[in-house]
Amino acid sequence: MSRPRIVGIGGTTRPGSGTEKALVLSLAATEAAGAETQLFGGDFLARLPVYAPSEAPPTDEQRALADAVRGADGVIVASPGYHGSISGLIKNALDSLELLRDDPTPYFQGRPVGCIITADGWQAAGTTLMALRSIIHALRGWPTPFGAALNSTTNLFDAEGRCREPKDAWQLTTVADQVMEFARMRAAT
Ligand SMILES: Cc1cc2nc3c(=O)[nH]c(=O)nc-3n(C[C@H](O)[C@H](O)[C@H](O)COP(=O)(O)O)c2cc1C
Repeated sequence: MSRPRIVGIGGTTRPGSGTEKALVLSLAATEAAGAETQLFGGDFLARLPVYAPSEAPPTDEQRALADAVRGADGVIVASPGYHGSISGLIKNALDSLELLRDDPTPYFQGRPVGCIITADGWQAAGTTLMALRSIIHALRGWPTPFGAALNSTTNLFDAEGRCREPKDAWQLTTVADQVMEFARMRAAT
């Protein structure tokens, strides 16, 4: 296959969002493995209107997100744990993919979806990862077997945005590798 197209959706609107840094690192790992990537980070996601099922035409931002996912060979979603689940910002972005409902390949169908969670504790990281996987299943995607769970209380990144701990870098690379592996297997069938 030519270069797999991997779309990243994630982050928060907080300046210096660790969730977005984690997503950027995972996307970079897919690029190192040959992918071309497109990032929809916190600032972009905040410009999406609250998704409402209606006859109103989609906004430019909603259309851009839907078009990118339509053309993707794989996706990586990164969410913070907010009150035990994914944030409203990320849920709204995923709800906006309702625009893909009537596509021949709706939502995430047939595509790998990498899962990255940040939270201030392991309990929320676990429940949020479970919630994200359930949503990806509902959108007919294939969540990566490995989900990255990062504890934000551990000063995750250095000034250059790299992981301080090798085990955290390993998590983000493993998600990237699993998305790429699935995308290449899919292209080979
Ligand atoms: C509204 C809100 C709710 C949160 N709820 C939880 C929670 O239930 N459990 C937890 O461990 N952390 C919680 N956090 C902390 C965030 O998950 C954590 O700081 C996250 O890594 C923030 O990511 P960011 O650096 O990308 O903004 C919450 C933060 C906010 C703002």
